[in-house]
Amino acid sequence: MQVLEFTPEIAKATDPLYEKVKHIIPRFEWELHAPYIQRINRLKKEKNAVILAHNYMTPEIFHGVADIVGDSLGLAREAGKTEADVIILCGVHFMAETAKLLNPEKTVIIPDTEAGCSLAESITPQDVRGLREKHPGVPVITYVNTSAAVKAECDICCTSGNALEIVESLDSDRVIFLPDRYLAANVAAQTGKEIIIWEGACEVHEKFTPREIRDFRDGSPGITVIAHPECPVEVVKEADYAGSTAQMIRFVEEKQPDKVLLVTECSMSDNAAVNFPEVDFIRPCNLCPYMKKITLPKILESLESLSPVVELDERLVKPARRAVERMLAASS
Ligand code: 13P
Ligand code: SF4
Repeated sequence: MQVLEFTPEIAKATDPLYEKVKHIIPRFEWELHAPYIQRINRLKKEKNAVILAHNYMTPEIFHGVADIVGDSLGLAREAGKTEADVIILCGVHFMAETAKLLNPEKTVIIPDTEAGCSLAESITPQDVRGLREKHPGVPVITYVNTSAAVKAECDICCTSGNALEIVESLDSDRVIFLPDRYLAANVAAQTGKEIIIWEGACEVHEKFTPREIRDFRDGSPGITVIAHPECPVEVVKEADYAGSTAQMIRFVEEKQPDKVLLVTECSMSDNAAVNFPEVDFIRPCNLCPYMKKITLPKILESLESLSPVVELDERLVKPARRAVERMLAASS
């Protein structure tokens, strides 16, 4: 991997960006990132590339090189709208696959193909076929955190931002909801429908405990607790609000609480703290090891080489895309 030097010219070009993130990124660290940021931002214009970044990207990526940031739903929507020739997806593999499904003619790149997801790993297409055999006629909803091969076996996708809306949109009292048992349980707590679950879990969110949340409340009276619905139901019950990563940010923007605990992946609080300097973020920290595989040097390499590209089996594209498009059509 190439090591780039910090020069006075790079300082001059990137200092306005640093102003924004200086509370979060120490100067010595910025000097390591800045040469990559400058080169990536130049190269993406030359190659007509757009960088879509998930809310869990580290601040130097999120605030330094991303063109569009968001949750899984937002990134899927933006991927469908972009005019760029190349999409660099800074997130995990299923997100890059979703971008490719919606843009089969475009070059979609993920800077590290090892950026997976414990939820996506928990289920296979054969598992979905087994569930259909066991529950004939019951519609199958898949969380977007699955491979394209799994999506191709399902009727409709959902994300954490629209899971309840998608469940409610189906004309059936019973639905199969996979693969996250916690998201399924959190939706089940809000709907009258019977939800058949799969035993998958997000290895980051399942670690949070209600006890931890109560301890944070005791230590910081008046704190507003916002949890991701991939957390266990008992954790979500302790929160003031639960929503997707984008909904969490919207909640902070609208309510402007003084002190906030975001019960989710570490980088969320760092990124939000840059955008809401007046809000005090108390930071529980569970890292997603897959999201953290995406780094500035890898983004630069992928822009230079226009690889690794996301390729999909032709046979999967139509059915998997249909599941994603049905979701986009059914969610507000
Ligand atoms: P969001 O859609 O809420 O961003 O969640 C994606 C994810 O992977 C959370 O762990
Ligand atoms: Fe998957 Fe959890 Fe990481 Fe999100 S945080 S990408 S659900 S492992």
